[in-house]
Amino acid sequence: MSPSTPADDYRGSGLLFPPDFVFGSATASYQIEGAAGEDGRTPSIWDTFSRTPGRVWNGDTGDIACDHYHRVEQDLDLMTELGLEAYRFSIAWPRIVPTASGEINQKGIDFYSRLVDGLRERGIRPVATLYHWDLPQYLEDAGGWAARETTDAFERYAEVMGRALGDRVDTWTTLNEPWCSAYLGYGQGGHAPGRHEPASALAAVHHLNLAHGRALQALRATSTGDPDYSVTLNFHVLRGQGDGASEAMRRIDALANRSFTGPMLRGEYPADLLADTSSVTDWSFVREGDLATVHQPIDVLGVNYYSTATVRLWDGISPKQQNDGHKGAVGGTAWPGSDQLVEFVEQPGPYTAMGWNIAPEGLEELLVSLSEQFPDQALMVTENGAAFDDHVADDGTVPDPERTDYLRRHFTAAHRALQRGVDLRGYFVWSLLDNFEWGYGYAKRFGIVRVDFDTLQRTVKDSGHWYRDLIRTRALPV
Ligand code: FCB
Repeated sequence: MSPSTPADDYRGSGLLFPPDFVFGSATASYQIEGAAGEDGRTPSIWDTFSRTPGRVWNGDTGDIACDHYHRVEQDLDLMTELGLEAYRFSIAWPRIVPTASGEINQKGIDFYSRLVDGLRERGIRPVATLYHWDLPQYLEDAGGWAARETTDAFERYAEVMGRALGDRVDTWTTLNEPWCSAYLGYGQGGHAPGRHEPASALAAVHHLNLAHGRALQALRATSTGDPDYSVTLNFHVLRGQGDGASEAMRRIDALANRSFTGPMLRGEYPADLLADTSSVTDWSFVREGDLATVHQPIDVLGVNYYSTATVRLWDGISPKQQNDGHKGAVGGTAWPGSDQLVEFVEQPGPYTAMGWNIAPEGLEELLVSLSEQFPDQALMVTENGAAFDDHVADDGTVPDPERTDYLRRHFTAAHRALQRGVDLRGYFVWSLLDNFEWGYGYAKRFGIVRVDFDTLQRTVKDSGHWYRDLIRTRALPV
């Protein structure tokens, strides 16, 4: 779609959002908290990974990050200043259950309890994610997500959190982007724990699905309030190239999208996924009764979207590794089939500082497609945003017109989806704060609030002011 015609440029201004549409912003524990060794927290796989030379840009770690753990009051006030209606955060599992003994760390619970109370006092809805990638290291040492026992531990952790916060959270989210946990963590290796084991990656897919289902049961059994239940997935919005374009798209759609939506929302793994991957695994880790456990009702499906992906069949001798260490990473590895591999190819720009292409029409297409595939399923954009190389102006402000433009275009896309009848409940901008961007360390800034990583000072960027106006008026600023 060409962005040159006014009707299609996705810069709709003045568009009004419905009164019950929720405007929020999102973060994740390891990316912002710091205090890595405090109050009983033990290492997660990301502590181990980031301390391993060569894994993260510049040797950056989350040891201090944004120091949110100590600055939570200040950050809550920032949320009020921006007018946020909801805040999506994640809970660090190794703060809650720090050792293999299973003992609960009350100090960890207290921290999140204060956060939730602070949000509610300010009229901000708490949206809590149980797992945003910081698996306790002791569980990885026992096999990680490739081992079924990890789902037992996750269920117990969910029970603990349901009891502790289930009277006060607005929404429970089980997992953030299990695609990254499974394929980047255990297949491609660009994320913690950094393993290169295709069969383990597929076992991890199933164990994450099972963990989701078991956690939902545990949260429902223990939450005394009336929370919504959800999961957040990152969907591949695919474009195809070359002769085998549609076959390449089908395979990646099965591997990346339907391997989660199938069991979670339909109670089955897609037949084509099982066939495509038969040379890698026989899927015997799926046991009797598992799919019924995975298939729990959810109130809202969380959708993370940043860009599209273009794929083509590639039948060269060795797989080409077209991979930024974060997204688009299942392509280069020896996946399914496997006389022909699927390759991720470069996409037309413009790009963000991550090298991800800017394609707001992909968000509209995704939301419409999901609501066609799952007509009764309410949707929520749980992450969308952009990294750019910001600079601080002489007057101390942070003018970031590219980020504002990105957000304007994606909010317009969401608005178009609403107009096309999609049951879209809200939108969380990634991210509230510049933070530890996984393999990229502190080199990539996604915040609508700048963090100076020397002084830890916070400054609302121009995009943050723009967002505040959007929330206040419920209309895209002119
Ligand atoms: C998503 C992650 C989030 C952040 C953004 C840029 O995949 O969920 O933590 O890294 O990408």
